[in-house]
Amino acid sequence: MIGNLIKALVVSASLSLLFASVAYAQRITVNDGVFTAAQAAAGESVYDESCRTCHDMGFYAGIWEFWQGKPLLDFWFVIVAEMPTDNPGVLSDAEYTDIVAYILSQRGYPAGDTLLDRQNGLDNIDIVAP
Ligand code: HEC
Repeated sequence: MIGNLIKALVVSASLSLLFASVAYAQRITVNDGVFTAAQAAAGESVYDESCRTCHDMGFYAGIWEFWQGKPLLDFWFVIVAEMPTDNPGVLSDAEYTDIVAYILSQRGYPAGDTLLDRQNGLDNIDIVAP
């Protein structure tokens, strides 16, 4: 009896926590125009210089399934922390962000009016199918 009551209380407490965090985070997705066309264009030049020798765009088609449902921040961070393999972290935050905008545009996501910004909400954007 008491055991069931406690279980019910625990379940309802965790449900309210879940709803509270969903409401708080206001998550959006990469389909919501999260980068500008100018960022994607700038990202293309940086990409040509720093990434294209090792990865053409087909590379991302191959790994995209894995990234579905994950925060865009994680994708950004893997690139900042590990790429280019011969000199990780060599680019500026803004250059890495432009590269991510370029990759998103090449994956078929729409540009919008909002700047993709490492300092502003990158962790609230989820990668989903285009
Ligand atoms: C000298 C070659 C080289 C360069 C330059 C390079 N990469 Fe990579 N990259 C690799 C290798 C090797 C791997 C790991 C093996 C794989 O997944 O193919 C990798 C993996 C990745 C991954 C997958 C990471 C994961 O955990 O899923 C991404 C994304 C990526 N690179 C993006 C970039 C971007 C963006 C740039 C330019 C800033 C870049 N790479 C530059 C060689 C390179």
